[in-house]
Amino acid sequence: MARISSLEKEGEEEEERLKVKVKVKVGLGWIEWARGWLNLIYEMLFQRITASHLQNPMPLPPINDITCVITGSTSGIGREIARQLAESGAHVVMAVRNPKAAHDLIQRWQDEGAGRGLPINIEVMELDLLSLDSVVRFSEAWNARSGPLHVLINNAGIFSIGEPQKFSKDGYEEHMQVNHLAPALLSVLLLPSLIRGSPSRIVNVNSIMHHLGFVDTEDMNVATGKRKYTSLVGYSSSKLAQVMFSSVLHKRLPAEAGINVVCVSPGIVHTNVARDLPKIVQAGYNLIPYFIFNAEEGSRSALFAATDPQVPEYCEMLKADDWPVCAFISHDCRPTNPSEEAHSVETSYRVWEKTLEMTGLPSDTVERLIEGEEVKCRYGAHEG
Ligand SMILES: NC(=O)c1ccc[n+]([C@@H]2O[C@H](COP(=O)([O-])OP(=O)(O)OC[C@H]3O[C@@H](n4cnc5c(N)ncnc54)[C@H](OP(=O)(O)O)[C@@H]3O)[C@@H](O)[C@H]2O)c1
Repeated sequence: MARISSLEKEGEEEEERLKVKVKVKVGLGWIEWARGWLNLIYEMLFQRITASHLQNPMPLPPINDITCVITGSTSGIGREIARQLAESGAHVVMAVRNPKAAHDLIQRWQDEGAGRGLPINIEVMELDLLSLDSVVRFSEAWNARSGPLHVLINNAGIFSIGEPQKFSKDGYEEHMQVNHLAPALLSVLLLPSLIRGSPSRIVNVNSIMHHLGFVDTEDMNVATGKRKYTSLVGYSSSKLAQVMFSSVLHKRLPAEAGINVVCVSPGIVHTNVARDLPKIVQAGYNLIPYFIFNAEEGSRSALFAATDPQVPEYCEMLKADDWPVCAFISHDCRPTNPSEEAHSVETSYRVWEKTLEMTGLPSDTVERLIEGEEVKCRYGAHEG
């Protein structure tokens, strides 16, 4: 009898130990939270000083023979990236949800460039990141050209400040879909073209605000009530999810594939990203121009990550060292460390698996694409 009760006791103790072991983190600790805010405030107050060594516009190396796809290139940082890459000789594809706006911009740039004797090689393709069908259609159309892609810049993003929570027609929280899920799907589906363009790069325009993010893979939509939704939670979590996914993608791409994945922070930049703010707050933005970058200044870290010849070497070094995170380039074009939370390898793998599941891709997608096999995605079957 005494033997049975001692076994029962041991069993209970083992159960308790296991519970402690599998105790999953449910949010950022207050120290991480405070550090996140400090990072954001520091970037805002001192970005002009820390980036004072950079020229504006930033001179780019010769890029005549590269093809770049840039999402969200009708406004803000993406518009500057597209213009500068095209004016420096690259073949630029503006991947946008409003093709008319893109064609109007091209016309303007062509008129301005003609005056300075600058021809530009630029085209427009439709892509709406709020629709995963649209992402698949874009990728299929691009891959069907059987040409190389040298640089994919996932720039498009939303921060619906103060807006109520919204969901895409695919059923996902809009920040998570536009800022993370759709760019992740696009990056994976374009791998065949990026392999043809190797050495090639995927550049994700991320944010210092990923430091405030926390990803719960059981609640990617922040809809179960475990966490209260705010636009800040939606935005920062989507940006952290992007860093985590990028870290695993970079690790899973064999060095021979010659594709590097980089996240960048553009700084705090005056663009249309604040379009949802009350007019009075937007006016405040204009009152403190000293601290806030203009779009040209904000485009420098992405342009650097896309074109600097030393970036691939740095990425390969991180891969060889089995570093837990992918390369992260700061607003001042210097490598920096992403948040402590982004270093969680276990959570990053959970984010990886969940992202593939949510975007309708098989778990061995990357390996199969590298082998040159075809991969079917759950999305993209319907005409839009
Ligand atoms: N501004 C900042 O301070 C700051 C700081 C850190 C990170 N960022 C990041 O920088 C990136 C660019 O933002 P921005 O500041 O330049 O803002 P922006 O001026 O609002 O530009 C965002 C771009 O994304 C496009 N976009 C939005 N939803 C889309 C969708 N469903 N499908 C396709 N395209 C879509 C927009 O298209 P339309 O032109 O059609 O609206 C626009 O071209 C974002 O990823 C943002 O998170 C910005």
